[in-house]
Amino acid sequence: MLRPLITREQIELKLDEMADAIRDDYAGQRLILVGVLKGSTFFLADLARRLPDDVEIDFCQVSSYGGGKSSTGVVQIRKDLDINIEDRHVLIIEDIVDTGLTLMHLKELFATRRPASLKVASLLSKPEARTHDTLVDYIGFEIPNEFVVGYGLDYAERYRNLPYIAVLHPEA
Ligand code: PRP
Repeated sequence: MLRPLITREQIELKLDEMADAIRDDYAGQRLILVGVLKGSTFFLADLARRLPDDVEIDFCQVSSYGGGKSSTGVVQIRKDLDINIEDRHVLIIEDIVDTGLTLMHLKELFATRRPASLKVASLLSKPEARTHDTLVDYIGFEIPNEFVVGYGLDYAERYRNLPYIAVLHPEA
């Protein structure tokens, strides 16, 4: 059962706000957006279209979750970046920061490549679920510790295409 949590209108407004803040902070600087596959793709596409037209886009993929609902605690790089980020301004784009494990690992990895700056934008954050303390520079919505799907987020690869975000409850 799906219980709507954040509407598509709320997402649109939040994207406008986040894009304004990012545009201001990076004025005059060329930015690389790094989407973390697959959940971030919808957020990245909609955010990027609100940013100046010379941003570069790359993707990486890590896996910390199997097909289910809970983290295995193991982070593996499944696809690395194509772009060399040395001396570049990098903004990691996440759909959700949950325990913080994925992000902490990615930031540590990318920092070794000496970017000019390294920041993070996440549409969602679950502060109650955090076990790894890691800074998220731009947060769209803080949400309760419930399992959410939609707008890129999945359960066993389903529901990513929902245009809104919903809490997924087990079938009654
Ligand atoms: C999700 C999400 C983050 C990570 C957050 O990805 O996109 O990358 O989990 O969880 P954490 O803070 O507990 O590490 P997932 O591994 O489910 O892959 P997906 O984006 O392909 O659905």
